Amino acid sequence: MGYPARSVFKLEEIQNKFSVMKDRDHILDIGAAPGSWTLFASRMILKKGGHVTAVDLKPDPFTPLPPGITYIQGDACTPDVLEQLQDLGPFNVILSDAAPDTTGNRTVDTARSEVLAEAVLNLAADLLVEGGNLVVKLFQGGGEKQLLSMMQDMFSRAKPFKPKASRNESFEIFLIGIGRRG
Ligand SMILES: C[S@@+](CC[C@H](N)C(=O)[O-])C[C@H]1O[C@@H](n2cnc3c(N)ncnc32)[C@H](O)[C@@H]1O
Repeated sequence: MGYPARSVFKLEEIQNKFSVMKDRDHILDIGAAPGSWTLFASRMILKKGGHVTAVDLKPDPFTPLPPGITYIQGDACTPDVLEQLQDLGPFNVILSDAAPDTTGNRTVDTARSEVLAEAVLNLAADLLVEGGNLVVKLFQGGGEKQLLSMMQDMFSRAKPFKPKASRNESFEIFLIGIGRRG
């Protein structure tokens, strides 16, 4: 289907269930490489005038960069990248499939995932429009109750969701926030 990774099926399930993206949206995709979510999002909204800004630690995986996509190589948790995103934002939707490199030690991996998810929530507080939607990946055991409760304050609706495409053995979960409160 022309996508570089199977993770696209997770975003497809999320979109089918929660309709997080719509025509003309400006979308921020955090942890974007190798680019499946970015491509899926851009194919959904591009013809209708939307735009996708993608950020990852890894270099731009697209050659050439498809139209309607801006790629930033960098750490989404740093002030330098935040500044670039503030210039490009605000965004209607923030997607984060970002994950730390796993060590095999579940305690370490979930703790790192929690730090990352919390940083994404802080970015959303800064960059997401009122009424905007957020999808953020988290390793289960990484403080999902606390993060979900923060999202329930921030959004009209906030729910955990485990796509079928997340393989049985995977301990990832997605937190979905719909309709950022004013
Ligand atoms: C599971 S992959 C994302 C797959 C992507 N959604 C796709 O469908 O092609 C996770 C990505 O998160 C990125 N990542 C981890 N920490 C990050 C950070 N602090 N800032 C930006 N990207 C980060 C990694 O480099 C990795 O490419």
